[in-house]
Amino acid sequence: MKKQDLSRRDFVKSSAAVTAASIAGSAFTIVKAESVRGTTANSTVQIGWVGNGGQGTRDAQLLEQTGKAKIVALADYFQYRLDKAKGPFKVDDKKCYRGIDAYKAIMSDSSIDAVLLTTPPGFRPDHFRSAIAAKKHVFAEKPLAVDAPGCRMVAEAGEKAATQKLSVVVGLQRHYSKAYRACKKLIDEGALGIVGLAHSAWDQGDLWHDRRAKYDKAKWPTQMDWEVEHWYYFKWLSGDHIVEQNIHNIDVISWMLNSHPLKAAGFGGRSARKEIGDIWDHFAITYEYPNSVVSSNTCIQIDGTPGDVSETIRGSKATFTTTAGKGGTGGTRIEGARPRRGGDAPMIYKYEGMDDKHYDQEAATFVASVLGTGEGEDKYRNDTKYGVESTLAAIMGRDSAYKGRVITWDEAWNSKEKLAFKGGA
Ligand SMILES: NC(=O)c1ccc[n+]([C@@H]2O[C@H](COP(=O)([O-])OP(=O)(O)OC[C@H]3O[C@@H](n4cnc5c(N)ncnc54)[C@H](O)[C@@H]3O)[C@@H](O)[C@H]2O)c1
Repeated sequence: MKKQDLSRRDFVKSSAAVTAASIAGSAFTIVKAESVRGTTANSTVQIGWVGNGGQGTRDAQLLEQTGKAKIVALADYFQYRLDKAKGPFKVDDKKCYRGIDAYKAIMSDSSIDAVLLTTPPGFRPDHFRSAIAAKKHVFAEKPLAVDAPGCRMVAEAGEKAATQKLSVVVGLQRHYSKAYRACKKLIDEGALGIVGLAHSAWDQGDLWHDRRAKYDKAKWPTQMDWEVEHWYYFKWLSGDHIVEQNIHNIDVISWMLNSHPLKAAGFGGRSARKEIGDIWDHFAITYEYPNSVVSSNTCIQIDGTPGDVSETIRGSKATFTTTAGKGGTGGTRIEGARPRRGGDAPMIYKYEGMDDKHYDQEAATFVASVLGTGEGEDKYRNDTKYGVESTLAAIMGRDSAYKGRVITWDEAWNSKEKLAFKGGA
């Protein structure tokens, strides 16, 4: 038996995770959405939105832009965030809820069909589980958790979603890019030949300078308020930037290789950004995939670092490469091997542009899946399995760097380590 078979089987056995079979099976036995939620193809999906910040605003706008979804309720930790969102989205004051438990009011509102979950990821597992328990369709931003117990919780809820035919879309938007999907098809057909090495990266400067500069810590009533507002810098809320941001690129490598990584060996540190929080500012991880495919991965958030947001997979016949674009796919190509006797390398696939708007396509697909009007692989979406696997792959890389040793998939999956608020006035 091959190593990857063993790993897969153990993963499924030990985790009660969303199995490929259960998800794939459900795609063929779909019961129309209206029988679950009272939604019909001609009606408007009523959405409750938890976490009314930056990315949530983009997602909420794109969901409403479909013309078939409406934000009808808001929940946020901070009143000022509710005040900012309720006007533009025309939400009644009575449907605006504040505080750390505000999400519960959304979940218990039976007029709400679906939820948009866009808080810091540390809260996601509780919100996700609660939404599925309340039989709501879920559009959840990535990552799905910050630790293994959170991943297991989401995986279990995702399995329930599949049995109840509730749609789940996870904000790993490259899966909704036409260009990435075209490459995925070619790669599955063998366009790359024998794959040896891959590389993924999210290297950039420090971020959120504005948020840091604008607020004096002393002005925040409690340590909790301070950390929630500056969540990015705290491991228990963001999972560190390899999990929060670099997940996108790690996810693409796994998606294209049809497997999660089997183990990780990582390095990194906290060298430049020392004045706030506890996250690191650089990581370098080596992941091993089945068939001894090795993928190196870097993520840096140190001012002055040249930007590199990309994925590369090198094979004996061709190389897949991508570069990011703002709000859409930047460049995505598969370039054939250069002939031994000279001449140009054949371009097998090339996309350069901005019309492949993966965020828009993701929002439209979610609404169509809820309404039962999607087509093909988008007829019914449940992204939980790959969303959890990519979250855990990033956590495994992070923890291998924190601990300074190799971590296997099974160890990562079964870990009981939970990240939590450390307290403070
Ligand atoms: N897919 C993408 O390209 C993309 C891009 C950016 C961010 N994101 C993800 O979106 C999520 C939100 O990121 P953001 O940039 O919008 O952050 P943000 O800080 O702008 O928004 C987070 C919002 O959640 C609220 N909040 C915090 N804790 C809460 C709680 N317990 N209950 C209710 N509300 C709570 C905050 O007050 C804030 O309004 C993160 O998971 C992030 O990783 C995804």
